[in-house]
Amino acid sequence: MSVQMTAPADPVDVIFDILVRKGDADYGGECVSQLQHALQCAMLAEQAGAESPLITAALLHDIGHLIDDRAHQMRDSGVDARHEAQAERYLKHWFGPDVTQPVRLHVDAKRYLCATDIAYWDGLSDGSKKSLEMQGGPFDRTEELEFIELPYARDAVMLRRWDDMAKLKDAVTPPLEHFRRHVTAALLG
Ligand SMILES: [Fe+2]
Repeated sequence: MSVQMTAPADPVDVIFDILVRKGDADYGGECVSQLQHALQCAMLAEQAGAESPLITAALLHDIGHLIDDRAHQMRDSGVDARHEAQAERYLKHWFGPDVTQPVRLHVDAKRYLCATDIAYWDGLSDGSKKSLEMQGGPFDRTEELEFIELPYARDAVMLRRWDDMAKLKDAVTPPLEHFRRHVTAALLG
């Protein structure tokens, strides 16, 4: 009797399938969908000359919103679903800290930037200002100094700035498949 073995699914296919199936969801009350936001964020990282792992982190930084169906409900009731921690847990099956840590730290990077850059808070969207309260508000001086010493904190700060810019209603981006080579290159060997 022969046993049929099926090849394990390509992780990039698994992840892209989530982005395609669930990416129509609105992005926290902003005027872009989750998928548009992810593509804009990855495009900005690529345009800035980031390496493949950070482009991958930019593309997947909000996947925590897509893998947990309760996330929207919780946000609407003022509860922080900690989407960045959910994303880290999910992504570390396939990626190293050069992807997972900027993702995990991208919310704290907002708290850091609000504490260190006066113009930053003014430039945040209303949705982002609102979620900042749920996320603990700006860091105090001690938290700020501790944060920026963490490995990958500076990558997280760059990701955060792209994240904040990636909310343009009619931005033209490359298709999702354009980023496959970066995500594949970032996979753990
Ligand atoms: Fe985001």
